[in-house]
Amino acid sequence: MCLQFGLGGYFRLLSACGRHQGPLLALLLGVGLLAGCTQEPAPPATVGRRLYVANCVACHQSRGEGIRGVQPPLAGTPVPVGEPEPLLAWVMFGIRPNSLPQGLYSGMMPQFGYLDDTQLAELLTYVRSSFGNHASAVTPEMVATARRVHLNH
Ligand code: HEC
Repeated sequence: MCLQFGLGGYFRLLSACGRHQGPLLALLLGVGLLAGCTQEPAPPATVGRRLYVANCVACHQSRGEGIRGVQPPLAGTPVPVGEPEPLLAWVMFGIRPNSLPQGLYSGMMPQFGYLDDTQLAELLTYVRSSFGNHASAVTPEMVATARRVHLNH
């Protein structure tokens, strides 16, 4: 939208003014465009974000705020930023971590063990570093280990 407006404005002004002011106008409008467009940067459409939107956003919401009494936030709750192992066990296999309090939420969470190691690593790294969270990355190796441990039980 910003770009369309800016370019449209540029061409209108360019035709309104003579040839001489053209380059100067281009420069000024370019700077203005840049300034205008950088004020509201879109969030990066990373693989992790895309997987979050596809699999989690309906319940945990776009900014990880959850829905009170139904699904917990992923911002400021213990499991998303805790050790990766309990997080993986919960998200992949529904094994409830000790740090997840019972009886607070009426919703049910599906299991996501069908996502592959790289997808889960990207997705959970996104969750752990978004919504104000600052936890370490999850690697595909960690996911593979969690899968092995669970499947050998
Ligand atoms: C259908 C709704 C639903 C979907 C989809 C869903 N969840 Fe959940 N999630 C829940 C509910 C409900 C709980 C709380 C369960 C409970 O307390 O028994 C929960 C809990 C969690 C927790 C623990 C939060 C805490 O309080 O520490 C994490 C982490 C989590 N979900 C991650 C995810 C991720 C990652 C995805 C996507 C791959 C996802 N969830 C998809 C409903 C959902």
